Amino acid sequence: MLRNMARLAQPFFRAIDPERAHDLAIEALRLGLYPRAGAADDPRLAVDMWDLRLPNPLGMAAGFDKDGLVPDALLAMGLGFAEIGTVTPRPQPGNPKPRVFRLTADKGVINRLGFNNDGHRAMRERLIERRGRGGIIGINVGANKDSADFIADYVAGIEAFADLASYFTVNISSPNTPGLRDLQRGDALAELLAKVLAARDAHAEQNKRRVPVALKIAPDLTEHDLDDIAGVLDRHPTDALIVSNTTLSRDGLSDAAQAGEAGGLSGAPLFERSTIVLARMRQRVPETMPLIGVGGIHSGETAYEKVRAGATLVQLYTGLVFGGFEMIGDIKQGLLDAMLADGHARIADAVATGVSDWTDRPLP
Ligand SMILES: Cc1cc2nc3c(=O)[nH]c(=O)nc-3n(C[C@H](O)[C@H](O)[C@H](O)COP(=O)(O)O)c2cc1C
Repeated sequence: MLRNMARLAQPFFRAIDPERAHDLAIEALRLGLYPRAGAADDPRLAVDMWDLRLPNPLGMAAGFDKDGLVPDALLAMGLGFAEIGTVTPRPQPGNPKPRVFRLTADKGVINRLGFNNDGHRAMRERLIERRGRGGIIGINVGANKDSADFIADYVAGIEAFADLASYFTVNISSPNTPGLRDLQRGDALAELLAKVLAARDAHAEQNKRRVPVALKIAPDLTEHDLDDIAGVLDRHPTDALIVSNTTLSRDGLSDAAQAGEAGGLSGAPLFERSTIVLARMRQRVPETMPLIGVGGIHSGETAYEKVRAGATLVQLYTGLVFGGFEMIGDIKQGLLDAMLADGHARIADAVATGVSDWTDRPLP
């Protein structure tokens, strides 16, 4: 019944403004109007990563639940983990609307939201309310647009949520906060990571847990930039690397009118670029550093390619805009089928089995 309702609602959602459709989807999840995952996950999809056991490797990417309103609904729909945020220290409204654009023919989205969010305090209150419910919830932290000190904002994020986060993501790759992506460059990145990791370590004793920290990068980086980042990670190793955020490129879009909108492009048009960069980073960082693959996943096959290219976990957002939440079960089944067809007993065995297939390709 709920499944049918969700399905029926889809064309309606597609006919209305994309940001309004998003807000309605969040509201539906808050009200419990969503398709629950049927059975428990196949144990062959379980992933042991850090000190955590994930029931499956498919997670919600940051930006859908920026304020931590519905993490439990996301998990109940069968996602293996949910990343909430980006959250900034102080609440901020983001850019003027309209600021999200659907590229239906290309199955892509362009957004220039600009970190609209309720701030640390509101998210903290929500997470305290759900404490003890379990489930793996990553907190994606960022900086206020008008901040005098971006790095201090990330440190504040670690300090605000060290007792609540399953893991942190340090997001320096959003294209919609001027200057933010500059933190991806050598010296700035080294300073950021040194301070963030020190803050995390300072809380580890008190919380009896060293919260893993992932770094999330853009897909619009040159070979030199990738070398640079790998070099910094060598000196300041994070616990994972997330590849990638949205792209500023407009490769191969057919929707010319919308392609001219400023902002970050996500969804199917991002798949190839983000998977190539993922594989290139897999070659550059030690095997002990897990990668999280995100960008354009919309099927079991595309999720499995991310795994082959080097991802231990995968995330998606835009795929769900076009495919609906039913897609979660289909992708997990597709991953299982693909992994078994390749003769792997566990999804972990498929990780990075096809890296060179992807590094050999030129960026689109
Ligand atoms: C509307 C929208 C908002 C987003 N907001 C964030 C964000 O706040 N923080 C972040 O790290 N990534 C954000 N992202 C990027 C996604 O987490 C993801 O990296 C990107 O969309 C590629 O995955 P996809 O093709 O599956 O959407 C956002 C993406 C979209 C479409």
